[in-house]
Amino acid sequence: MSQDPHAEDEILGKAYDARLMRRILRYLQPYWKLLAVALAFLISHTATELLRPYITKIAIDRYIATGDIGGLDSMVLIYLGTVIAGFIFLFIQTYTTEYAGQRAMHDLRMQIFTHLQRQDMDYFDRNPVGRLMTRTVNDVETLNELFSTGVVGLMGDVFIVFGIAGAMLWLDWKLALIALSVFPVIIYASRFYRRRAREVYRESRLILARLNARLQETIAGIATIQVFGQEGKMYDRFQEINSNYRNVLLRSVRYNAVFFPIIEIFSALSIGLVLWYGGWLIGIDGLQAGVIVAFIQYLQRMYQPIRDLAEKYNIMQAAMASSERIFTTLDTQPVIQNSAAPVMPARLRGAVEFKDVWLSYKHGEPILKGISFTARPGERLALVGATGGGKTSIVSALCRFYEIDRGSILVDGVDIRDWDKQALRQQLGLVLQDVFLFSGDIASNITLGDERISEARMIEAARRAQIAPFIERLPGGYRAEVQERGSTLSQGQRQLLSFARALAFDPRILILDEATSSVDTETELLIQTALEELLKQRTAIIVAHRLSTIKNADRILVIHKGQIWEQGGHDELLARAGLYARLYDLQYRLERQNGANTEASTDSGPMSADQSERS
Ligand SMILES: Nc1ncnc2c1ncn2[C@@H]1O[C@H](COP(=O)(O)OP(=O)(O)OP(=O)(O)O)[C@@H](O)[C@H]1O
Ligand SMILES: [Mg+2]
Repeated sequence: MSQDPHAEDEILGKAYDARLMRRILRYLQPYWKLLAVALAFLISHTATELLRPYITKIAIDRYIATGDIGGLDSMVLIYLGTVIAGFIFLFIQTYTTEYAGQRAMHDLRMQIFTHLQRQDMDYFDRNPVGRLMTRTVNDVETLNELFSTGVVGLMGDVFIVFGIAGAMLWLDWKLALIALSVFPVIIYASRFYRRRAREVYRESRLILARLNARLQETIAGIATIQVFGQEGKMYDRFQEINSNYRNVLLRSVRYNAVFFPIIEIFSALSIGLVLWYGGWLIGIDGLQAGVIVAFIQYLQRMYQPIRDLAEKYNIMQAAMASSERIFTTLDTQPVIQNSAAPVMPARLRGAVEFKDVWLSYKHGEPILKGISFTARPGERLALVGATGGGKTSIVSALCRFYEIDRGSILVDGVDIRDWDKQALRQQLGLVLQDVFLFSGDIASNITLGDERISEARMIEAARRAQIAPFIERLPGGYRAEVQERGSTLSQGQRQLLSFARALAFDPRILILDEATSSVDTETELLIQTALEELLKQRTAIIVAHRLSTIKNADRILVIHKGQIWEQGGHDELLARAGLYARLYDLQYRLERQNGANTEASTDSGPMSADQSERS
């Protein structure tokens, strides 16, 4: 089972683990007063339940048997009173328990969320989104069930079972012993059932996880499946898991189909015993008939918790497994921590220096191998190179998303490990290859909800990013909602929006991972103008794909296999006829042709426009 990727998420341990339970209860601690109230009402509610059969007994023996109808009325009223009181007690108990549980779960979800936000990139590489979602949503929900049904329910069951046993013994111990004589068999049957149910439950969860994963993968990859005509194969695979799932569930149906009738039989048997032996006792011992009626009611109530046992057991078990996973998550601390006395400078000059930087994602497999370069304040560096060379890795190292193995990275002469993580990242503007848009309006996607950015500054940023005219044409303008993570915006528009975001935050050092996708000539021109705005008076490190960006850089670093292969200006590198010259030839010949075409037709192709601007 260990090779199953879902096994880790579905391991079921004990139904009760004191260590985990103590930690779970810590979340309830702030609400202990509420829980004390809940407990008090739980006991009161149990008391009304215990009382009702006894009132029946008195009604029969003292009033019905003697024909005292006036007294019977008051008994009926008292009976009604216990019903109403029981209702109120149960309401208060349920509400307070749920309230405390919901508050605790809210706190826990916040804690997990905060914790996740603090994690290193490395953590997100290792944990798929689905798993993290499950932690924050499903696992917490399972715990909630433990609070609302599990723990309190179990406590209530214990009170009821012992309370009824006590009441029966007190009413007539001989009859009680006869009634309870079937219990050893029931306990044995329950234990057998519980063990089987647990196995089936564990197995069904495992298969369900696989079923979910299969379904999710199919939906996510539907385009690929349809294009390659793989629906049939996917059908077969799903069919197999689906049948397994059905079979496991049918097994659990079989256990249920045996267990519950057995409980029914024994419940009927014990009632039969009470009637038979009780009737006999009336004759020889002067037992009152009302006691028999009360016993029947008690017994029926007593079997209820036994019927729910399996369900509660599953809840307990699932909750233990969920809490184990939640706590494991919470115990993972980010590796990248602030130093004891972190530096938090107000404003940067914007100097960046890499000194013999080595980085590896997996131990022993270095991706960056001794990268050294400097960017003076205001300088523009372009990183170019074949895919997989390590350009994005250089950027990630600078943002301290990953800890480097060797060497050092200095920003304004200070090692980034001595910087306050947040303060450092605030000074770095990062514009990524694929622009991430959040749900919300356009304005909040530019400011990211940061109150320090005024409306005027936001609009100015949009204007400089060349996106203002487009936004103003939208219904609602800056308040227009971004739908489905921006799927209604074009690639180019998204790119410009991300420039506006960077402009609004006005970082000293700008890091840009240029999008590779090509856009139409008009948008291309907009992007180039916006980019010029964005790069003004900033140190810029650009993973460049656009020929214009590369040519406009002060220095080009050619990254190849984790090293700086060549560096220098465009013409200088071309003259060397090395790797850059080859890259240029292969990658940009096409663009050059396109550029030439547009130049001919519109009189201001992208290349010529840049060159005049820069000189
Ligand atoms: N998070 C990661 N975990 C493990 N390996 C990674 C990770 N990110 C990148 N790599 C590996 O590091 C190497 C360099 O990747 P990187 O993303 O830095 O290349 P790149 O130069 O930016 O490529 P591209 O031009 O395609 O964006 C690749 O071989 C890649 O497989
Ligand atoms: Mg990259």
